[in-house]
Amino acid sequence: MSLTLEEAITQAAGLICDTNTFVRAVLSGRRRNMQTQTTRIDIRPVRIKVSILLQIIENDGRQTTTTNVEPKTIEIEKLLSSGYANILVEHAQGSMSIRITKKQQPLIHFETGANNQNLEHDRVKPRLLDSADPFLKEVGISDSAGHIKPSRQDKYKQVEEFLRLLAPALDAAIEAGHIPRPTPAKPLKIVDLGCGHAYLTFAAHQYLRSTGIPIHVTGIDVRKDSRIRNEAIARSLGIESSIEFRAEEISQTTLTGADVVIALHACDTATDDAIAWGINNDAKLLLVAPCCHHDLQSQMQTSPEPWSLVTRHGLMKERIADLLTDSLRAQILKLHGYRTDIVEFVGGEHTPRNLMIRATKTGAKPDLAEQQRYEELVQMWGVEPALALKVHQ
Ligand SMILES: C[S@@+](CC[C@H](N)C(=O)[O-])C[C@H]1O[C@@H](n2cnc3c(N)ncnc32)[C@H](O)[C@@H]1O
Repeated sequence: MSLTLEEAITQAAGLICDTNTFVRAVLSGRRRNMQTQTTRIDIRPVRIKVSILLQIIENDGRQTTTTNVEPKTIEIEKLLSSGYANILVEHAQGSMSIRITKKQQPLIHFETGANNQNLEHDRVKPRLLDSADPFLKEVGISDSAGHIKPSRQDKYKQVEEFLRLLAPALDAAIEAGHIPRPTPAKPLKIVDLGCGHAYLTFAAHQYLRSTGIPIHVTGIDVRKDSRIRNEAIARSLGIESSIEFRAEEISQTTLTGADVVIALHACDTATDDAIAWGINNDAKLLLVAPCCHHDLQSQMQTSPEPWSLVTRHGLMKERIADLLTDSLRAQILKLHGYRTDIVEFVGGEHTPRNLMIRATKTGAKPDLAEQQRYEELVQMWGVEPALALKVHQ
């Protein structure tokens, strides 16, 4: 018997309010023509003194707000009907998911299987990635007890913060119609270029899947040993049907087409290969955190005056070259129809390589003045960015 949306929401609300068996719920994505206050809401039961309350964790992509409420004081059905397109509810005996299509049709799915309740109230800082997620143990970020290893804290933080920027950018691109709403038949295609040990690749897979988005993720790295290791991890997690790895040069990969390109610290001009691959393959969303920059620095033999006041100091020259490299990358993306900005994605205390180039393909026609300004800047510095040579015109 198929349920109506209202019946499904009533049933999901009932599962959430049964605090003896409720494990967690996730509300994400936006229904067509509806606005939501936040990007994502996580709900879980917590024991506070003698009562079991519902902890509501609201995330708007930058900030997280946590409140603990008595189940009977909150209108769960109203919250579930407030505009989120994906609702996942896990309980002790299984899960229920509701995905509301563009045509406002509910796709309802039930699964059976044991889930454990965790009523501890110690998650002062809600994470997108549960430190006990088996993938974090497999990739070596968490220990066997599910705690982040002290030596891997920075990597964990980087990956978390990357996802915090990916989630809202993806929702916005889907909402605006830049990326078609993913379905099980046509899942969201993500490629992680220069994936290395695939911390981010697995994290993106696990996190997006937990929000109910059908996905297929590909990790590409030139190192064959990385591919073998990552494939073994995917098999042990039982996710090999939705994640794959290739040992290829980014510029030589035979992969064609992806909705989203991610790249975290792909070395030097491998970042340019990643951006060029995204542009050349018409990717709709690119999130790229660059690594070391050597290309422009080695080209900057003389400086347009009076800039030698700055570049005569080696450290300053390096920084100017870094800024110039990423500014020109952003501009090239803009000239190829991407709305582009550069943001900080993790505090400088975790990594000095903490910028992210974020670009969404809107198809906006490049402005002639923008093209001229780009040309002026490269001529002024006498440089030719690697990216410019890699993108097809
Ligand atoms: C600094 S690691 C970052 C790995 C991963 N993204 C992370 O953040 O943990 C850079 C990775 O890029 C890979 N790489 C560098 N140049 C590449 C290229 N041209 N094609 C494919 N992979 C490349 C390296 O093998 C290495 O694994």
